[in-house]
Amino acid sequence: MNENISVMYSEEQVAERIRQMAEQISRDYAGKKLHLICILKGSVFFTCELAKRLTVPVTIDFMSVSSYGNGTTGGVVRLVKDLDEPIEGRHVLIIEDIIDSGRTLSYLMQNMHNRRPASLKLCTLLDKPDRRVTEVHVDYTGFEIPDEFVVGYGLDYAQKYRNLPYIGVIRP
Ligand code: PRP
Repeated sequence: MNENISVMYSEEQVAERIRQMAEQISRDYAGKKLHLICILKGSVFFTCELAKRLTVPVTIDFMSVSSYGNGTTGGVVRLVKDLDEPIEGRHVLIIEDIIDSGRTLSYLMQNMHNRRPASLKLCTLLDKPDRRVTEVHVDYTGFEIPDEFVVGYGLDYAQKYRNLPYIGVIRP
């Protein structure tokens, strides 16, 4: 199953980095309640691992978006599943597995901002800055990676490999 996948970050490396991120986020939100927004599906694994290590009170909600088109001109983002609860007045942290072109997050940050949270930040496990088309301010980044097709830890290739416990590079 894994013959074309090489390890970019091992399970241990990912776990260690998430521990560091959780420490930093717990420090930054000390004395506050933190509302995590997990962007389905890829971010589920990262959200769980991060949330387990946070020491501030945490609530979690889920959202799903899809984007159509690609290249430098396309890319329309559509809301597929909205949040269950309002976020007005809450300290919101959006959790992503990867930021690529930036289109999804640019849409989401604007959409969330319009709902008037007390604060709004963005946390991603992986960032591919070389692929950016739309500028996005990222508050917490696990790893900056080169423009490779990555799978595992929630990331898929044709819906497969999300369950790999490490981040791998697939060369289909
Ligand atoms: C991934 C990722 C982001 C988006 C980033 O989701 O979770 O939401 O792509 O890409 P962008 O910066 O180019 O907008 P994907 O559409 O693969 O959905 P999935 O998490 O359900 O696999």
